[in-house]
Amino acid sequence: MEQMTVNTKPIQGQKPGTSGLRKKTKVFQEPHFLENYVQSIFDGIGGIEGKTLVLGGDGRYFNDRASQVILRMAAANGAAKVIVGQDAILSTPAASHLIRKRGTDGGLILSASHNPGGPDEDFGLKYNAANGGPAPENITDRIYAATQGLTRYRIMEAQDIDLSAPGTSTLGQMQVEVVDPVADYATLMEEIFDFDAIRALLAGGFRLRFDAMHAVTGPYAVEILENRLGAASGSVVNATPSPDFGGGHPDPNPIWAKDLVDAMMSDDAPDFGAASDGDGDRNMIMGRGVYVTPSDSLALLAAHAHLAPAYKGGLKGVARSMPTSAAVDRVAEKKGIACYETPTGWKFFGNLLDAGRATLCGEESAGTGSDHVREKDGLWAVLLWLNILAETKKSVKELLSEHYAEYGRNYYSRHDYEDVEAGKANALMDELRGKLGSLPGQSFSGLTVKTADEFSYDDPVDGSRATAQGLRVGFEDGSRVVYRLSGTGTVGATLRVYLERLETDPAQCDRDPQEALAPVIAAADEIAGITSHTGRDAPNVIT
Ligand code: G6P
Ligand code: ZN
Repeated sequence: MEQMTVNTKPIQGQKPGTSGLRKKTKVFQEPHFLENYVQSIFDGIGGIEGKTLVLGGDGRYFNDRASQVILRMAAANGAAKVIVGQDAILSTPAASHLIRKRGTDGGLILSASHNPGGPDEDFGLKYNAANGGPAPENITDRIYAATQGLTRYRIMEAQDIDLSAPGTSTLGQMQVEVVDPVADYATLMEEIFDFDAIRALLAGGFRLRFDAMHAVTGPYAVEILENRLGAASGSVVNATPSPDFGGGHPDPNPIWAKDLVDAMMSDDAPDFGAASDGDGDRNMIMGRGVYVTPSDSLALLAAHAHLAPAYKGGLKGVARSMPTSAAVDRVAEKKGIACYETPTGWKFFGNLLDAGRATLCGEESAGTGSDHVREKDGLWAVLLWLNILAETKKSVKELLSEHYAEYGRNYYSRHDYEDVEAGKANALMDELRGKLGSLPGQSFSGLTVKTADEFSYDDPVDGSRATAQGLRVGFEDGSRVVYRLSGTGTVGATLRVYLERLETDPAQCDRDPQEALAPVIAAADEIAGITSHTGRDAPNVIT
């Protein structure tokens, strides 16, 4: 076995986005691309000599090959040990838990989350720090700087390590420990939730359907929902992970999880439906005949979390990303707890969770989680819902109606314009940014602008500042529109338009969101000239 130092040159385009580096798989397979980025992570975090890391991914195409390269590079860079999920598989929340449980110096997660996988689709890699959370911006900045000055990387010449069964082996001086990816995570869930109560609910005839979307949560969901909680066999569908996610988008929203929506809207719908994404950190929640928006789900979970054992003492605070609806703010206000508004990206919750300021966090992009790990967690959200349903003995629909009656309903929708030419998307944002100051007082589609600004965030824990985090326009009646460019795409630009309107009249809380939001939607286009800039007269995706 030989250790090699390979000469290389900086490769352009290795700037981490909202959540690590995501590119077409073929780009990651170009000569030195993966190796350069991995070495830059190692250099950017101050070297890995003597350190222990976790390694795993969502099982997408190239996960297996990339893992072997990373192991050989970790050994050549002097790591003491790498703890790897069997077959290099770990869901993102399970990786976060493993980093924390074993007290490692961080971990590498191979995933492009909900983006499709395969030779012509997407791949990704991100570094999570020792707290188990996605690297904060000061670390990703250092990693990016390292990519730009890289002249060499280190790698061992060695045979593939067998990752197919738990056990320990060595690669040069480095230990490689292969672990069951599900076991520790399942145990953590048993500690957080009342499994007996959920078991009794299911034994009483309550039916559920969990769609793993051919992605990483399949084995986790079968073990937890079917084996440990007794859901009927077959309750978990699309449970076998595949490298291209069965050819689909493993994105749990009403568009990509349409099968689940159809099942939940049918005459024979189960009581509860849910789905998770490629790497297991997102969730979609449905009841019989009803879809719960991520923003509403966060609010409802915040209102009822005390019914689960881990949260019975109440919540220290809650946090949501800026474009997420203010539904949770209303719950926090009533409970008298803090509510933080952060930029988009789970990494911004890390400090609040570490400092014990927030217990529950969530984002409109189908992410919900708590201080049990430092990532959002799809199955955790499903189990918290089940725990609440078991305790209240109410249906999802009843819980939602009661919630709206008590807090009002924040009608909410996100309109995405995908694959817009980057120049056009930037022109739209620049023009809008330029006129923000002149908007207050003006009326658009019958709505008068009250406030208009560009969101920036001062982290209350470490004082760091994040700027340019989205343009927001607030109207006199409390409605709001936010414009933001996606930070996770791999082609062109995606313009996201987030629309929100609060309704406090219980008689008006059962409307179609698109209809209830019609004036805000019209104003959003009028203000930013979406159609004129992009040439699109409708969004491609509405969630
Ligand atoms: C990833 C992050 C989320 C974030 C989302 C936003 O999924 O983990 O925390 O909300 O990206 O994606 P966007 O495409 O809107 O930048
Ligand atoms: Zn994900």
